[in-house]
Amino acid sequence: MAVNFVRPKIPKFTPDPWAIQFDQHGNLKHLLTIEGISPQWITRILDTAEGFVSVTDREVKKVPLLRGRTVVNLCFESSTRTRTTFELAAKRLSADVLNINLATSATKKGESLLDTLRNIQAMQADMFVVRHEQSGAPHFIAQHVEPHVSVINAGDGWHAHPTQALLDAFTVRRHKGDFAPLRIAIVGDVLHSRVARSQIHVFNSLNVGELRVIAPRTLIPQDIEHMGVRVFHDMRAGLRDVDVIIMLRLQRERMDAGLLPSEEEFYRLYGLTEEKLAWAKPDAIVMHPGPANRGVEIESRVADGPQSVILEQVSNGIGVRMAAMSLCMGRKGGES
Ligand code: CP
Repeated sequence: MAVNFVRPKIPKFTPDPWAIQFDQHGNLKHLLTIEGISPQWITRILDTAEGFVSVTDREVKKVPLLRGRTVVNLCFESSTRTRTTFELAAKRLSADVLNINLATSATKKGESLLDTLRNIQAMQADMFVVRHEQSGAPHFIAQHVEPHVSVINAGDGWHAHPTQALLDAFTVRRHKGDFAPLRIAIVGDVLHSRVARSQIHVFNSLNVGELRVIAPRTLIPQDIEHMGVRVFHDMRAGLRDVDVIIMLRLQRERMDAGLLPSEEEFYRLYGLTEEKLAWAKPDAIVMHPGPANRGVEIESRVADGPQSVILEQVSNGIGVRMAAMSLCMGRKGGES
């Protein structure tokens, strides 16, 4: 019997990134979402990152571009890769870095987000890097900071994770070159994934040949086809002739009960095993933004196998974040 199932909707969040991401001279000021960033700017960020990746290969991994500037990492939600690579990126640009542990901060004692922000700003901060569980929190902060302060979104709720998508595009470009002939498949919990939404914007902006999402009906939002993707519910069909496979974590913390029969069933149908990987092109690369759950969405032999570029993504994150930070603060660099 056919099940009449209506795919869930993404919660509505309609920011106005075009209005605030650039200053009146057309320079990048804040990086809040990929929407509103032109393909030329995306390419400029990736090209700038190339220069910074070579800096991270040197014995002395520092350039003086942000000397005298203060970068504040505001992590309202847990993070391993993003927080630490932003910290390393800021230090390699010679900035002073402050990591605020929001779990022990005054916001837990009833202080409003704006008051916390004003107090940190009073310490002469020049940039806030914001990770928050609420969609739109970095936009809110960007609308309230002093004119000289930049804000970078390090992941907000279900909404966006722009620097993750940029480092993913950077990694794909390093392995595959031109985006136009590529087929890229994003697999798994697309519904709850801010990473998937930012990846869809970045890859469509860069004119990828074909962008696919592969997932059960319950984990794909309504109307996603309008974002320029082909939807597959079958792994064998979805992976056919694919050059890049991006696996996503099941975001249990954002999931209503009943979206999945079980993790075992999900792994059987959608987990990337060596057997399923063979359905893609022989030289396909395997990516995952992390944290990866082995035996849930990916088999260990694939995560650690020769086609995996998962750890390269993490390394590339430093150079891409150096590029995003320096461009937002009006410092070009990357070659110094
Ligand atoms: N990819 C990513 O955002 O990982 P973290 O949650 O560890 O920062």
